[in-house]
Order: sequence, then C-alpha cells, then structure tokens
Amino acid sequence: MWRGWRDVLTRLDFASAAPDAKLLTGHALGLSTLDLATRENDLVDEPATARVAELIRRRMTGESVARIIGFRAFYGLDFILNEATLEPRPDTELLVDLALGHLPAGGRLLDLGTGTGCIPIAILANQSDASAVAVDLSARALEAAHDNAERNGVSGRMAFPHGSWFDPLDEDRFDLITSNPPYITSAVVETLAPEVKDFDPRLALDGGPDGLAPYRVIATQAADWLKPGGWVLVEIGYDQGAAVSALFLEAGFEDVNVHRDLNQLDRVVAAHHI
Ligand SMILES: C[S@@+](CC[C@H](N)C(=O)[O-])C[C@H]1O[C@@H](n2cnc3c(N)ncnc32)[C@H](O)[C@@H]1O
Repeated sequence: MWRGWRDVLTRLDFASAAPDAKLLTGHALGLSTLDLATRENDLVDEPATARVAELIRRRMTGESVARIIGFRAFYGLDFILNEATLEPRPDTELLVDLALGHLPAGGRLLDLGTGTGCIPIAILANQSDASAVAVDLSARALEAAHDNAERNGVSGRMAFPHGSWFDPLDEDRFDLITSNPPYITSAVVETLAPEVKDFDPRLALDGGPDGLAPYRVIATQAADWLKPGGWVLVEIGYDQGAAVSALFLEAGFEDVNVHRDLNQLDRVVAAHHI
C-alpha cells in the first residue's frame, strides 16, 4: 500500500516521497522495510489504513518523518525525540569527529544545550573511558537526553543538570566543552521552512537579534570551567566563522580556528584555553 501514498506525496512535490511513504507505512503497520517488500499484496484492514493515512496527513503539513516516527539516527546511533528537542542534523557529526580528537584519555566533557544528548552520547559511545555533563534549559529535552543515554548504554557516565548554560554547574573542571547552541537570528527564524519553523522548538533555534547571544556567554565564561590546555568546540552557522572566532579571541583563547564541513561550509569554531 505504500506505493499509493508515495504517489500522493509525489503529486504534492515531496522530493523524498518514496522513502517517506515506506517509512511511515512501515511505522504505522509495525513492519520493517523488508516486510513491506515481501507482503505488498497482503490486505490491510480499515483501522490500519487509517493509521497510515494519519501519519501521511502529518507529513503533508511539513512535519518531518523523524518527528512523526519519534526518532532519528545520528553518528550511527538512534535518538528518540520529543517536542522540546531539535532533530540531530548530519552537519553536527563534524563536531563529534573533532571532539573525539580533542578529548584526552579519561576525559571530562561538558555539553551545553544538549537537546537529545546526541553530541555527548555519540562521543561517550566512541570513547569508553570518557564522562560527560549535559546541560539544557529545557527539562523536557533533558528527559529525552537521559532516555537516549540509557538506550545507548552510556548513562552511567553522564549527569544532566538543568539550567542556563554554566549556571547549574558545581566546581568541576572539564577537558573539553562542546555546544551546538541556537544560532539563527530571531528575524530569520520566522522565514525558515515549515518543517523547521513549525516543528523544531524555538528555544533550540533562536540565537537572539544577531544570532550570537549564546556564543557571547560561552566565550566569556568557558575559561572558568576548563582545565589548562582544554578546548571549546562550537557549531556555527556558515556565515558566523569570523564573528564567533573574534568572540573567543577577545576572551583570551588561543589557536582559534574554523573547521569546514563536507560541503566546504564553515561549521565549527575551535578555541584553546592555555
Ligand atoms: C540547536 S539546539 C542543539 C541540540 C543538540 N545539541 C543538537 O546538536 O542536536 C540548542 C539547544 O540549546 C538549548 N538551550 C537554549 N537556550 C539555552 C540556555 N540558555 N541554556 C542551556 N541550553 C539552552 C535548547 O533547549 C536546545 O536543546
């Protein structure tokens, strides 16, 4: 039956009509992609058809497949989503790659604005002696992060303090601070595609009038929470490399450099606390 829904989505110009229809049909019917292929001629009863139709209707409003099915893959791991979490983006995998190169053996990580927890959980899943503190202003996001840490087998090495940036921390010092903060200017948030604007939480998107408000807090306070020789790695918008680098240089960081993603766009600023 998924082919019929594919045709509906194709007529509405959905570029990913076939995978969307397959994933949503499989999810509604509790079938894997393989099951869908081998059981194409099975009769589907009315309640099951209605379940698929409801998911397709949500997709038509612009809600992403990941949000509808409630989870998304990131760095080879599965992350559940809720209404307070941003969907992890493939762009953010660069931050995880770089973090794994900057965290020493037995390293302590602080992740600010953790959302689903995708950044620290991916790092801990790949470095078995590391531990992490994951902060978010949203208590609901932290529930998802905690759940994701358990599902991915790293919750014993993580803590989840609730509050704004550095406010909920105690006296601990870290080897590495990571963050993918909200960095879109308030005016631009209004112009984003419905899939983002209407479904990703505003708290995860809006970086203030110039998109730099969270970076100012992080750049001015990070040194107080880093061990000597520690690093900060922040994800940035493609046009924020110079401005964010300047904030870290002004705050006294050294070796400040901008890393590009696979599309050759500026994506991460790294700054060294000597
Ligand atoms: C762009 S999302 C990134 C989420 C996740 N780290 C990721 O990469 O998918 C930014 C996150 O920052 C959180 N946030 C916004 N303002 C905050 C603040 N003042 N203190 C802590 N977290 C904040 C949001 O709730 C959201 O989870």
